[in-house]
Amino acid sequence: MALAIPVPTESLAGEKMALAVRKGLSSLPMRLPPWLFYDQTGSQVFEEITELPEYYLTRTEQSILARYAAEILAHASSGERLRIAELGAGSAAKTRLLLAAAVEQQGSVLYEPIDISMSALLVAQTRIEREIPQARVHPLVMDYTNGFALHPAAPGERRLLLLIGSSIGNFEPAESARLLRHLRAQLEPGDSFLLGVDLVKDERVLLRAYDDAAGVTAAFNKNLLIRLNRELDADFDPEAFAHRALWNPVHARIEMHLESLAAQCVRIAALDLSLDFRCGQTIHTENSYKYRRGQAEELLARAGFSPGPCWTDPRGWFAVCLAIAS
Ligand code: AVI
Repeated sequence: MALAIPVPTESLAGEKMALAVRKGLSSLPMRLPPWLFYDQTGSQVFEEITELPEYYLTRTEQSILARYAAEILAHASSGERLRIAELGAGSAAKTRLLLAAAVEQQGSVLYEPIDISMSALLVAQTRIEREIPQARVHPLVMDYTNGFALHPAAPGERRLLLLIGSSIGNFEPAESARLLRHLRAQLEPGDSFLLGVDLVKDERVLLRAYDDAAGVTAAFNKNLLIRLNRELDADFDPEAFAHRALWNPVHARIEMHLESLAAQCVRIAALDLSLDFRCGQTIHTENSYKYRRGQAEELLARAGFSPGPCWTDPRGWFAVCLAIAS
C-alpha cells in the first residue's frame, strides 16, 4: 500500500491554482501550467483526444503492451510475484493488458492505481474488477507530482511501477529528472519501473496529433480559459483566442499556445488582475517532449536505474522502457 500524500482540500487546490495563474500570466511570455487542463471537462476531452485518428500515442502504446505484456512482466518479475502500481493511472485503459498478463502468469494480482482524480480511479476500479476478477484494485488518491511514498511490497513480492501514456513528456527536463530520482528512491532493489515515451518523428505526424481536424485538441486548450472564467471569475472570450501547436526542434517538443486574435483586455476578478493582450500575443500552455532513441535509457540510468529492454512499434513511434532498481 502507498502512503497517501493528502490531496489538497478544495481551498488549498484553489490557492495553488490562483498562485500558478498569477505567476504565469504576470510573466512574459505568458505561461500556464499543463496540470490546469484537467478539470472535469478537460479530463473528458482528453479521453476524446486519445481516440482521435491523429492522436497515435495511445493506440501505439496499447499495441506495444498488447504484443509484449507477457515479456515485460517476465523481465520485471524474474520469477517472483509482482504487484503493480501506476502513477497518473486515470481510467487505466491500457493497464488492463498488463494486469491480464499478470493474472495469466501468477493467478491473481494487486493493482494500486494512483491519481489525483477520485472519479477516474473509481471508473478504473469498477471496470477492472468486472473484467479481471482476479485483480484486486487498491486505488490511491494523491498528486504524485508533489512527491509520494510507497509501502514496501510484502516479502517475496516485487513491485512494478508504471508511468506510461507519455506522461513524462509534460514535465520540463529538470522536473522529470527529479521525478525519476524520487521514483527510484521509492523502490527496493529488484523492483522495476516501466516508462512510456513518445519518440521524435516526422514533424507533420506530430503536428496533426496536437492540432486535429475535428478541433478536439483546440477545445482542450481553450477549456483552460473557460476554467479560469468559472473558477477565478475571469472574462476571457475563448473565441478571441486561437489554438496553436508548433514543433520546437531545438527542445524536441510540441508546444501548445493560445494566441490572442485581437488587442484586448481581460480581467481576472478573483486575482484583481487586468491583462492587456496585443493581437498575436500568446499564452504558452503545454510542452510535450519527444524522445530520441536511447534517451529514455540515459535518463533512467542518470536517475539510478539499470536500464533494461525497450519495446517499440514497427514504425518506431513510441517506446515502452523497463528499468530495474539495482
Ligand atoms: C497527457 N499528455 C501525455 C498528453 C500529451 O500528448 O502530451 C496531453 C495532450 N496535450 C494535447 N493533446 C494531448
